[in-house]
Amino acid sequence: MSWTYERAPVLSDSQFAMWSQLLELRVGISLGQHQRQFLQSQVSMRMRELGEESFSDYFHKVTDAPNAQLEWAILIDRLVVKETTFFRHKPSLNFVGQHLQERLARGAAKSSYDIWSLACASGEEPYSLAMVANECYRQASQGPNFSITATDVSRVALALAKSACYPERKLEFVPQSYRKKYFVENSAGQFQFQHPVTERMCFSCGNILNLDDMPMFEFDVIFCQNLLVYFQQELRKKLLDSLVEKLKPGAILVIGLGEVTTWVNDAVERVQRADVQAYIKSADNN
Ligand SMILES: C[S@@+](CC[C@H](N)C(=O)[O-])C[C@H]1O[C@@H](n2cnc3c(N)ncnc32)[C@H](O)[C@@H]1O
Repeated sequence: MSWTYERAPVLSDSQFAMWSQLLELRVGISLGQHQRQFLQSQVSMRMRELGEESFSDYFHKVTDAPNAQLEWAILIDRLVVKETTFFRHKPSLNFVGQHLQERLARGAAKSSYDIWSLACASGEEPYSLAMVANECYRQASQGPNFSITATDVSRVALALAKSACYPERKLEFVPQSYRKKYFVENSAGQFQFQHPVTERMCFSCGNILNLDDMPMFEFDVIFCQNLLVYFQQELRKKLLDSLVEKLKPGAILVIGLGEVTTWVNDAVERVQRADVQAYIKSADNN
């Protein structure tokens, strides 16, 4: 069979079930029937690049061929939604800023303030957090003492995040004063995030389903937005329970508004604000 648009292969019901189960098992993402076309087009586009004609053969290439892990890494990047922006949800970022300011005001700044941007995509979220944190230290007239760990399952997204280079349209929500301070326009008209705070940031590949392989230390902030929404409710709650274990006493877990509705965990209390969905760990815990 040769590849033409007219004859592009169609996923059967059982093949759709097989591919979506694989996706759910490996990264937690649960696809509805309405995403069937999306799955089909992304998988078949990759198959076309490889000259592969059968979904089943390609499935083996992704699951049990010698280079299966490499092929999976390429495919998964095509299947996840990586949409993001700088300062995507300002109230959540402001809330992190307030949490840090309160801590600085209490004089509790001796130990590092550690932030985890859990599904960092192409980096706009961790760089936004870095700007917010840095400004808090500056306003408190204290030298920065924070770290940002940024993880994502997509290696392609992480490579973009590490390169820290963005077209101007991506900077739409970055305040003008921050643009001048944190970005430098390069000769290609791209904006490079360039500031000493990058020394406080590290990027690594991580799958939220394998939390035991993820950062081993505890955080003051876990920022996990626009990820849980792709998972089934029960998985969301289970993952949140595990994330609570990675919070320091008094630390905050910030998720996207409405990303979980009925989750309760005795170690954390929901912050009483309508514009953010955040949980604070009791300072007595641990
Ligand atoms: C829509 S983006 C959200 C980016 C950013 N957090 C934001 O709110 O703008 C979702 C990100 O989650 C990542 N992702 C999907 N499944 C994941 C998993 N199992 N573990 C870690 N990251 C995952 C994707 O690669 C993608 O970059």
